[in-house]
Amino acid sequence: METTSNVNPMPRIGEKAPSFTAVTTQGKINFPEDFKGKWKILFSHPADFTPVCTSEFMTFGSMAKEFEDLNCQLVGLSIDGLFSHIAWLRTIKEKIDYKGMKNIEVKFPLVEDISMNVAKLYGMIQPEESTTSAVRAVFYIDPKNIVRAIMYYPLSLGRNFDEIKRVLIGLQTVDNFGVALPADWRPGDEVIVPPAGSCGAAKDRMEGKEKDLHCYDWFFCTKKISKEEVESKLGK
Ligand code: BEZ
Repeated sequence: METTSNVNPMPRIGEKAPSFTAVTTQGKINFPEDFKGKWKILFSHPADFTPVCTSEFMTFGSMAKEFEDLNCQLVGLSIDGLFSHIAWLRTIKEKIDYKGMKNIEVKFPLVEDISMNVAKLYGMIQPEESTTSAVRAVFYIDPKNIVRAIMYYPLSLGRNFDEIKRVLIGLQTVDNFGVALPADWRPGDEVIVPPAGSCGAAKDRMEGKEKDLHCYDWFFCTKKISKEEVESKLGK
């Protein structure tokens, strides 16, 4: 039966990431303090030894180096015990050959959360979906330990890991260049500059006086940043 004690307010964008200490497959961690200075992706999955979660872990495990290169620490979590996590990760490495991915060793920490303390702290229990399993949450936490973006998916739908990586690259680019990013942005696409702050600046922009800008209207101006320039600053 659903209980309100399972429901916590979720951390919100812009807030400090809630701290916790936990046992993981890589030893004990103090999160997020142990990873200060890095980006963190804290993500939950509903349960070990389930198919969608296995496909997700194999995908994340196979992309681990790409996230490492972006100065990002991955931390997984489910409401399972340490020995279940260890057995599942061993099975993934030793037995599962999925879409060309095999021998995948998951080296990032997977938090045991039988108590549900961490899942509750991060609003990962959404009782209309499940009272006993975490939904598929993804928290992006920046080097200053501030929550910068959040995704929530239901139990039945595997996440898109290309999008998970694109969001991390996007957040780093927003910080590196002080810009905003349009729909479906990828490195090399035009970026959005801060809006004109005065009537004079709006007029100048519309008259083409800011040479590097392309203005669709006075409030919607973009500039080019090359793919190479964007990539040269990632993970710094
Ligand atoms: C899965 O990972 O396959 C799964 C987990 C919980 C509910 C439905 C699917």
